[in-house]
Amino acid sequence: MKNDIKEILISEEEVSVRIKELGKEITKDYKEKNLMVVGILKGAVVFMSELCKRIDLPIDMDFMSVSSYGKSSRSTGEVKIIKDLDDSVEGKDILIVEDIIDTGLTLSYLTDNLKKRGANSVKIITLLDKPGRRNIQVKVDYLGFEVPNEFIVGYGLDFSEMYRNLPYIAALKEEVYNDEILNK
Ligand code: PRP
Ligand code: MN
Ligand code: MG
Repeated sequence: MKNDIKEILISEEEVSVRIKELGKEITKDYKEKNLMVVGILKGAVVFMSELCKRIDLPIDMDFMSVSSYGKSSRSTGEVKIIKDLDDSVEGKDILIVEDIIDTGLTLSYLTDNLKKRGANSVKIITLLDKPGRRNIQVKVDYLGFEVPNEFIVGYGLDFSEMYRNLPYIAALKEEVYNDEILNK
């Protein structure tokens, strides 16, 4: 599996330092609020669990799962909720947690959707941002790192459901994803 990695972009240590900083910032910003952290399955799971340990406040944690009808048809702009939140968001200060923003479709849909349900506020934290791929503008409130237009894996991010458990953030070798596409 290590042979599939082209380059480590962000080391385990760098990620950990940045998550501690973000946790401190959120702790300060949400002191007087009613924080509810919403992770977007599955990519956000690793980041969310590390981040929440660094937030020194009582928080609600929940998850949503969405589908955008496969990466290839993302341009249609359709997003469907596969797993919804368990409880109402009324009066909550929601922080949506993502691993990466790519086209922006997932987060623009989710922000609108949660605002319409009567949340007190809706903000976004993403570990990674790939600004080179943006179609829809999204306001990012907290950002870990910007990444280049490479195929990124690790720390929750997958290629064909693999590599999510890598403790660092890396670029995948071109031949790994090209082979998969050619063999289909
Ligand atoms: C990825 C990523 C974000 C979304 C970003 O999820 O985790 O949720 O795509 O892309 P966008 O900005 O173009 O909407 P994916 O659909 O691969 O599901 P996963 O998290 O389960 O891997
Ligand atoms: Mn995702
Ligand atoms: Mg994925």
